[in-house]
Amino acid sequence: MKKQLAVFASGTGTNFDAIARACVDGVLNAEVAVMVCDKPGAAVIGKAARYGIDTFVFSPKDYPSKAAFETEIVRVLDAKKIDLVCLAGYMRIVGETLLGAYEGRIINIHPSLLPSFKGAHAVEDAVAYGVKVYGITIHWVNADLDGGKIIAQRAFEYDGNDPAEVHRLGQKIEHALYVETIAKLIK
Ligand code: GAR
Repeated sequence: MKKQLAVFASGTGTNFDAIARACVDGVLNAEVAVMVCDKPGAAVIGKAARYGIDTFVFSPKDYPSKAAFETEIVRVLDAKKIDLVCLAGYMRIVGETLLGAYEGRIINIHPSLLPSFKGAHAVEDAVAYGVKVYGITIHWVNADLDGGKIIAQRAFEYDGNDPAEVHRLGQKIEHALYVETIAKLIK
């Protein structure tokens, strides 16, 4: 039985694409059962459509609280019998409703070598600091923002000051590392 994945994204969805592709190609013994997106209009929604993957797209402002939209998300995940939730550029802090139901089954990819440079501007912050070794972290998600137990990390060197170049170098690593890490977790 293939493992059922949910991928959460807010933007372009290149990591979503890498995970969905790996499922289609049989690199992962899994399928993306649903893509969850908090940004109607995000490019990732079109990518999901091209794979024929179901989506749950919502606008947080249409709900009275985080608990309210996370209750809907939990309903979707339960209905799909999700084994693993993969946050892939989901730029929202996971709240207690979703954690209450799925903690221990939620992972996140973050564009820094945690515990350095937590938060939404990790690459920009690392460039501003002037680091020479950058990296990618995949970690379990808990109530501590970007603070859950580390599952995998990969570093790369860059001696410059262009955040766009760090993003570009980092994303090449992200796609492979995310697929490899999911493969190990669902074995
Ligand atoms: C990724 O680089 C990911 O590391 C980052 O968002 C990007 C999403 O790209 N996540 C965070 O910054 C989380 N704090 P994608 O939409 O092309 O996959």
